Amino acid sequence: MGAGVLGFDPALLRAIGERVGTPAYVYSANLIRAQYHALDDALKDIRHRICYSVKANGNIGVLRVLKQLGAGADIVSVGELRRALLGGFDPDAVVFSGVGKTPVELDEAIRAGVGFLNIESAAELEAVIAAAKRVGKPARVGIRVNPDVATETHPYTKTGEKTAKFGVPYDEVVAVAKRISAEPLLKLRGLAMHIGSQITEVEPYHRGTVKLVELVAGLKASGIDSLEALDVGGGLGVRYHNEKAPTPKQFAAAVIPPVKAAGLGLLCEPGRYLVANAGVLLTKVLYRKHSGGKEYVIVDAGMTDFVRPSHYNAHHEIVPLRDGKREEQLVNVVGPICESGDFLALDRRLPMVEPGELLAVLGTGAYGFVMSSTYNQRPRPPEVLVEGDRYYVARQRESLEDLLRGETAEPTTWYQA
Ligand code: LLP
Repeated sequence: MGAGVLGFDPALLRAIGERVGTPAYVYSANLIRAQYHALDDALKDIRHRICYSVKANGNIGVLRVLKQLGAGADIVSVGELRRALLGGFDPDAVVFSGVGKTPVELDEAIRAGVGFLNIESAAELEAVIAAAKRVGKPARVGIRVNPDVATETHPYTKTGEKTAKFGVPYDEVVAVAKRISAEPLLKLRGLAMHIGSQITEVEPYHRGTVKLVELVAGLKASGIDSLEALDVGGGLGVRYHNEKAPTPKQFAAAVIPPVKAAGLGLLCEPGRYLVANAGVLLTKVLYRKHSGGKEYVIVDAGMTDFVRPSHYNAHHEIVPLRDGKREEQLVNVVGPICESGDFLALDRRLPMVEPGELLAVLGTGAYGFVMSSTYNQRPRPPEVLVEGDRYYVARQRESLEDLLRGETAEPTTWYQA
């Protein structure tokens, strides 16, 4: 049975579940390191930096593990910037993308000295120029390009097609670059793309990278040669169930040759690849129930703790942590939330599990805790980081008091409309 928990010791997980309670997220520092090393090694033939996408898992303990390996960070908000800096990342190694950065966010990014402030529209460029003037500091920028490259992934996580809201339209990039070059406070350091998430083929990366390289030639022809790197984005798919995830070597073979030919360094922004399979969600079976011809296993984690199954119909393996062979059964694993969409697995073949026992939901290290909510007034679960045979609580379970913070039963200040 232990082999099913992919790199985690089931006895350790049981001990964690008993000490910190359930539901609880558990991450393995060593599994994160192994993923990082495999990618770093595959990219060794080119000057590169792996900028971990903080949105996948922003726990400061996780950030510190990646920072110590030499990673940079990819962020999308000032909240993530704060986390990245607390995690110890050098601002110079931070890439900041996002279509809707506010003036406050632009000011803070420029003040902090973010290395690549990625501009996603001509309108945002004007806001960046204004921010640099306000702050009185140079802004080091990139252009996030919309490369118009399609990928086969969930519609919610496609980002590289012409119709997507992301990036500067391909045919506007040269004009935007010229405007940047004319602005003394701005320095154009790179072109970037991010074509989607959970991508299981490398060919779109190649096509997109080639399109970035073609733009580099166009920029040179316009006298712009300040570029240092091309950022090929994140999105590398992982194996959750039966997907065929690309290997780091296949990814490297798709992106290195064009970037090398352009004589530039390479940046990438993986999130899921680094942390998804380094995390599990521990949950306890509360009840069993037979209803309408269905077998229900009711557990103490729901869509508020882990939304991927109900939001994307994502498949995550569920493994009992108790030893021993048992008969299998077709079940729906559901949570306590008052929504029929609240499930972790439907029509899943599982050993006959019993109330009180612990289950591990696999592949939950990315887009797990960060997408949790407090709907139904449920405190969010703790996050535990495992280092070898030791662990620590990297984030405490939220309390009911935490959920009431900022609210009052008695208004103290009234405003006249
Ligand atoms: N860079 C940018 C600009 C991004 O928008 C993202 C993810 C990444 C990098 C990292 O992508 P990754 O390597 O993790 O695929 N909540 C969804 C995934 C949304 C991804 C959003 N952007 C899920 O649970 O599948």
